[in-house]
Amino acid sequence: MSQEHWKSKIGFILAAAGSAIGLGAIWKFPYIAGTGGGGAFFLIFLLFTVILGAPLLIGEFIIGRRTKLDAVSAYQKIAPGSFWTVIGRLGVVTCFILLSFYSVIGGWIIIYLFEAIRGSLDGLSQDGYGTLFNDIIANPGPTLFAQFLFMLIAILVVAKGVQKGIEVTSKIMMPALFLLFLVLVIRSVSLDGSMEGIKFLLVPDFSKLTSESVLFALGQAFFTLSVGVSVMVTYASYLPKTQHLPQAAFSIIIINIFVALLAGLAIFPGVFSFGLEPDAGPVLIFAVLPAVFSNMQFGTLFFIIFLLLFLFAALTSAFSMLEIFVAATTKKDNTKRTKRSWQLGMLIFLVGIPSCLSYGVLSDFLLFDKTIFDLFDYTVSNILMPLGALLISLFIPLRMSKSMLYEEMALGSNVGKVFFHIWYYVLKYVTPIAIIIVFLDVLGLWDF
Ligand code: PFF
Repeated sequence: MSQEHWKSKIGFILAAAGSAIGLGAIWKFPYIAGTGGGGAFFLIFLLFTVILGAPLLIGEFIIGRRTKLDAVSAYQKIAPGSFWTVIGRLGVVTCFILLSFYSVIGGWIIIYLFEAIRGSLDGLSQDGYGTLFNDIIANPGPTLFAQFLFMLIAILVVAKGVQKGIEVTSKIMMPALFLLFLVLVIRSVSLDGSMEGIKFLLVPDFSKLTSESVLFALGQAFFTLSVGVSVMVTYASYLPKTQHLPQAAFSIIIINIFVALLAGLAIFPGVFSFGLEPDAGPVLIFAVLPAVFSNMQFGTLFFIIFLLLFLFAALTSAFSMLEIFVAATTKKDNTKRTKRSWQLGMLIFLVGIPSCLSYGVLSDFLLFDKTIFDLFDYTVSNILMPLGALLISLFIPLRMSKSMLYEEMALGSNVGKVFFHIWYYVLKYVTPIAIIIVFLDVLGLWDF
């Protein structure tokens, strides 16, 4: 049985950063920062990422590398036959649902890319972009086809394996993403009146912060780091003992924050410079950005570049979601990888069809007052991911000994005892308490 492993440390960091950076940082972050108070939201998001997200990320890495097993088997090995084995299965189910609707948005990016290249976005009015976008997502044929294409790319890369597929692709895609983003940011901040947008993102105005935006910032911190679903357990299981886990975690967190910052700096200066609204919501990127770019020289080209890197980012996240599934069902037996990637990828596509149709023929089909897309998104973001994160933050201090945790954390390079203890106690107390508060709020039992 041949086993996978990462070829290089940087390959692992880029692949894990690729999982983290996706629709969360590029699509969701600007619009919830836009509606949630700009700079103040950004600051709270930063704090949650560093204080709560980082310990969980290190924790998932430790579980993965210690056991060298897939997400389901890892918990079985540490706590055989116990309740805790539910964590791995929960992560797999969450990723399944998440990828089924994530691929819908991936499909929208592909269609928009196609439309931008074809020139159909040229010369439209601000309202025209919104109308065009709504027409596009309501049309079942092209959206389903694009969603299928998105899944197809994910299947082909994951079937190739960790080293040849995910690592090689991430190594090319991630640096390209930074470079392209830098071009966009330079263009955006050099616009007339861009200062207002920069201030909106970077100068905190706490009067704009609501309790809801604090909760969104917390959810966003977990979502963008891909923590709580054991994807990072799976990725870390391919790591050699020489990798220093806290260092890897902090590199990923810094890259993640940097990309969210770049996304904000690419978008808000343009939004303000052209007198658009920062709180346009989920349509911000699709309906507002083409207008921003259309007013620029070489605007279409810049927009095409933006969509390409947006697609790259969404794909590298999709790889990780499919990989957790493939690893768990093949038990890392590589001979079954190709077949499983196809079977699971196609199944996820089929399950995602109703989500795709939620913006068209199924828009009136509501369950619990939500379209299927919204229901899936709500269940994953507000219930399953925080639940997974909560269970992991309880599992580690309860079921893994302190000495074992320290030993695993300190492999590769020394780790100070003080750092270890801060990590341990934050994970043990601060993380679960914060997540429980979010839960109580979601259930409407706590209004803070
Ligand atoms: N971190 C990804 C994003 O921000 O788009 C979303 C994600 C990927 C969440 C993989 C969970 C996961 F397992």
